[in-house]
Amino acid sequence: MNKYSVLGNPIEHSLSPQIHQFFAQESGLVISYGRQLVPLGSFNESIELLVDSGYVGFNVTVPFKEEAYKRVHSSDEISSEAQAVNTIRVDSAGELNGFNTDGLGLTRDLTHRHGISVTNTNILILGAGGATRGVIGSLLGLKPKSLTVTNRTREKGEELVRRFAGRYPSSNLYFRDMVELDGSYDLVINATSIGLLGVFDLLRDNVVKDKVCYDLSYGAGASFATWAQSVGASMSVDGLGMLVEQAAESFAIWHDHRPKTNLLYENLRAEIDD
Ligand code: ATR
Repeated sequence: MNKYSVLGNPIEHSLSPQIHQFFAQESGLVISYGRQLVPLGSFNESIELLVDSGYVGFNVTVPFKEEAYKRVHSSDEISSEAQAVNTIRVDSAGELNGFNTDGLGLTRDLTHRHGISVTNTNILILGAGGATRGVIGSLLGLKPKSLTVTNRTREKGEELVRRFAGRYPSSNLYFRDMVELDGSYDLVINATSIGLLGVFDLLRDNVVKDKVCYDLSYGAGASFATWAQSVGASMSVDGLGMLVEQAAESFAIWHDHRPKTNLLYENLRAEIDD
């Protein structure tokens, strides 16, 4: 039986084993999919041991996506520009091939599940870390009218914008400090790691009032989505659908088949909202 695992720290709440087992069952495959708590500073040793013991694929989550990018032998274009890997396939020669399915997962959830337009809209994205790097290329690929990055640490935000502006020269990509923001964005996406810290208080209400808001975090961690809803966003969704869709993309890389995602999404939604 082919063995897969998700690697992270912490990892006990990861839904990936449940998601991949559901997809496998639906696709008529029998797989083993576990979760592995990797000690900080031990990513390389851990993955080596797992490969030696026969694992053929991994998902990588916080905080190891950058380390995974450095560790893999080859990486596709989207993970190279993100400098972060969330999916690894071990090929027949034992080499690690890296991918990043977060961006496709996000755009698929936005457009297919929630019917949210990206093309020709003005997007604001909060955060300039690995999560933003992982999704920005896929968003720009859908040709928004503009994409503005904001971040607590200005230099990090400006650096990210400079790098992606070089890769996507025809896109309108900007950095703005949080205090400069107004209500001119159609879609506001939270890609910071604020999550469970409690009440979201980084933005003024007018930035999200009557706008569409999306939080890469999900469930109780989606403090931005909760806040946006409470101050009058026209629509506010968490990242549960992105989680499911990025997993479906990973599944397709390993098994050459993209599973159906709607039933699983509805099941998880009911569990989380319970
Ligand atoms: P990830 O890989 O999850 O994106 P990261 O690279 O550590 O994690 O980036 C976290 C992002 O969340 C950064 O944009 C960070 O802002 P800084 O660049 O200023 O550190 C943002 N972030 C985390 N906690 C925050 C907080 N309390 N207030 C504002 N921004 C925060």
